[in-house]
Amino acid sequence: LNIVLLGPPAAGKGTQARRLVEDWGMVQLSTGDMLRAARSSGTEVGRRVAEVMDRGHLVTDGIVIDLIRERLGQGGARGGFIFDGFPRTLAQADALEEALREMGMRLDAAVEFRVDDEALVERISGRVTCAACGEVYHDRTRPIPADGRCVRCGGTEFTRRADDNAESLRTRLFAYYKQTAPLIGYYHCKGILRPVDGMGGVEDVARAVAATLRLPA
Ligand code: AP5
Ligand code: ZN
Repeated sequence: LNIVLLGPPAAGKGTQARRLVEDWGMVQLSTGDMLRAARSSGTEVGRRVAEVMDRGHLVTDGIVIDLIRERLGQGGARGGFIFDGFPRTLAQADALEEALREMGMRLDAAVEFRVDDEALVERISGRVTCAACGEVYHDRTRPIPADGRCVRCGGTEFTRRADDNAESLRTRLFAYYKQTAPLIGYYHCKGILRPVDGMGGVEDVARAVAATLRLPA
């Protein structure tokens, strides 16, 4: 299965992508993670994107399309690819379709996470990430274990994202509704849109995703 995870900032795309990787051996391609890796590597691209990301705007289509094409070229997805946070514009969606077609693949589903704006603010303001492995925690709903060690890698260093503040969130929400939400209609027309209620707990949402993708229980 090759699937796109669509949804506003902090809807739970990354959290559910990790579940699909663990449970079904899929490969997660997160353009957000790729861009954060690029900026911390201090490359020219990294310098260009850092400021744009921190303010909550979308990075130029060309940069993210190149990143995705480069990663797809490396192959290696036994259970299929999960596109997490990509595409975010109609141009990116067309580019993805073309890249997959060139490789003899296609998209099977676009899972759209539906979460209220108030819940997004709550999720974003509590998010903490393991610096070593990227495991995502939340101050209230998924706290860091009492011994201060990451459940996945045992790391002890945790970070908060520079764009997880009220002002950047407003810009990110605006970018989502203006530039990304049209993709809901795009995938609906292609017959592969799968809306999922993202308001429940992590386990409830994981069950809803598995059900809509018809993954075996
Ligand atoms: P990106 O990294 O993609 O950020 P985003 O879309 O804003 O999504 P997030 O990572 O914030 O949230 P998520 O949905 O993965 O939620 P999570 O699982 O972490 O992009 C960042 C920036 O990079 C963009 O603003 C842009 O500048 C640039 N960029 C990236 N891709 C681009 C592209 N294609 N084109 C152009 N620019 C691009 O969960 C959030 C929190 O909620 C966590 O604390 C988690 O523990 C908690 N949580 C999760 N699920 C639940 C649940 N069911 N119940 C309660 N809490 C939950
Ligand atoms: Zn970790």
